[in-house]
Amino acid sequence: MELVEVQNIQKIFRENSQAVQALTDISLTIRPGEFTALCGPSGSGKTTLLNLIGCLDRPTQGKILLDGDEISRASQQDLTKIRLRKIGFIFQDFNLIPSYTALENIEYVLWLQGVRAAARQKSALEICSRFGIEKLIGRRPSKLSRGQQQRVAVARAIIHKPKIVLGDELTANLDHKTGADLMDFLKKLNQEEGMTFVYATHDPVMMERANRIVRMQDGKIINAS
Ligand SMILES: Nc1ncnc2c1ncn2[C@@H]1O[C@H](COP(=O)(O)OP(=O)(O)OP(=O)(O)O)[C@@H](O)[C@H]1O
Ligand SMILES: [Mg+2]
Repeated sequence: MELVEVQNIQKIFRENSQAVQALTDISLTIRPGEFTALCGPSGSGKTTLLNLIGCLDRPTQGKILLDGDEISRASQQDLTKIRLRKIGFIFQDFNLIPSYTALENIEYVLWLQGVRAAARQKSALEICSRFGIEKLIGRRPSKLSRGQQQRVAVARAIIHKPKIVLGDELTANLDHKTGADLMDFLKKLNQEEGMTFVYATHDPVMMERANRIVRMQDGKIINAS
């Protein structure tokens, strides 16, 4: 079965009686195990599309199926539930919760899912040792480097074993080496555990790492390999 089926979607943002057509008739299929880069100039609609697939927003028209569920018409409440179980999202600025420690940030989704403290901690500690960030678990985000924050953000995004991990410009603010290391790490997760990744990027080096490239322009897909 396809993991994501995007069928003829449109997204129009309305602001003060102005309408912005962010996506125009987009159709796209994502299969389990893909490692796909979403490319295109600024304003082409990459973030809008990721947000729709990630259950953070709904299309104006068209249909999106995620793992068999129709998310394009789901209520906000249902979207939240689906997101909690099936989606991992790595934001460009990481969106870590400043008052939480690294460990608390990583556990957060499990807490929202109602997982008990002991089980939550066990999972979070396991993932921290895999990421080599055991020593950082008690620190708050402001006491972490960007590369460290990023690893915490990735750990948080994958702790609940989501069906799909979405990344928005996740290497844009990192130096080249840190960005390349992160991509290698994600690729390893993809190869070893079949975790599906779709990430928006401007960076040619990040595009080279992809197994598939989807190019967008003016709210349309102009090329999908
Ligand atoms: N919340 C919003 N309200 C109004 N317009 C929006 C909103 N979000 C996005 N847009 C518009 O939709 C279009 C697509 O924006 P989007 O952020 O998806 O592009 P992008 O490809 O991610 O760009 P970038 O590479 O700069 O991140 C742009 O014209 C943008 O101005
Ligand atoms: Mg964007």
